[in-house]
Amino acid sequence: MSLLEKMFTTLFLKRKKVVNPDLLRQLDKSKLPKHVAIIMDGNGRWAARRGLPRSAGHQAGVESLRSIVEICCELGISILTVYAFSTENWKRPQEEVDTLMNLLTQYLQNEINELHRKNIKINPIGRLDQLPESARKELERAADLTKNNNRLILNLALNYGGRAEIVDAVKVISKKIAAGTLSPAMITEETIAEHLYTRNLPDPDLLIRPSGEYRISNFLLWQIAYTEFWITEVLWPEFNSEHLIKALLDYTNRERRFGGLKI
Ligand code: IPE
Ligand code: IPE
Ligand code: MG
Repeated sequence: MSLLEKMFTTLFLKRKKVVNPDLLRQLDKSKLPKHVAIIMDGNGRWAARRGLPRSAGHQAGVESLRSIVEICCELGISILTVYAFSTENWKRPQEEVDTLMNLLTQYLQNEINELHRKNIKINPIGRLDQLPESARKELERAADLTKNNNRLILNLALNYGGRAEIVDAVKVISKKIAAGTLSPAMITEETIAEHLYTRNLPDPDLLIRPSGEYRISNFLLWQIAYTEFWITEVLWPEFNSEHLIKALLDYTNRERRFGGLKI
């Protein structure tokens, strides 16, 4: 990215809104979701609309992540799962993949102390062994340093695919069956859930997709059975605390029935 492009991105980000107190006041904190999942999409379009390279969009996307993590902490959300790189994103040009991997490494290097200070637990999920070594090492370091933190669990979905996750779970379950430690008749929905990357975590209550795409793109296929969706045309680099609060407000006014009847 050129210096001019960097300056443009920084200026744009400085204009990001601080939390609107009126909106915040409307929020019933007792009804907030425990677990929020976000598909961080639209970086490339954000950059293209400004005549910038896609890398500038990804850089701006990192800034959105930074501010959304902060507001989730302040609001008392317990778990935030963000989709950062899918098992299908390897199809992109090598240069873009390298940019994304470098941004991930830099994000961890720059933010880890602050995240740790804020009592945030970094929990990478996905086929991490296929990531470049530098990114993998930073992830391991971050996960290890923050493993006992409990204010917010930040699940970073990297080389993540919902189908790959189910395949990986089936492999482990099959091995247990072959070893005689698990019998097929004993398999329940809980057995599957316990073998996913998200084991021990409740399912997402709310899934947010910026950039106006009405699809799941292989994210958390098992876990979103009863998740509430909130889709916005806003692109991820523009997504700020106000958008998050609007999504939360919408969520708090919904009625979740889980297949049952209105109480
Ligand atoms: C999301 O933004 C980032 C990743 C998928 C890694 P995109 O790069 O998909 O942006 P668009 O969808 O092309 O605008
Ligand atoms: C989903 O976005 C993956 C991430 C945001 C990491 P994509 O841009 O890869 O999804 P599609 O291709 O539009 O479905
Ligand atoms: Mg996209």
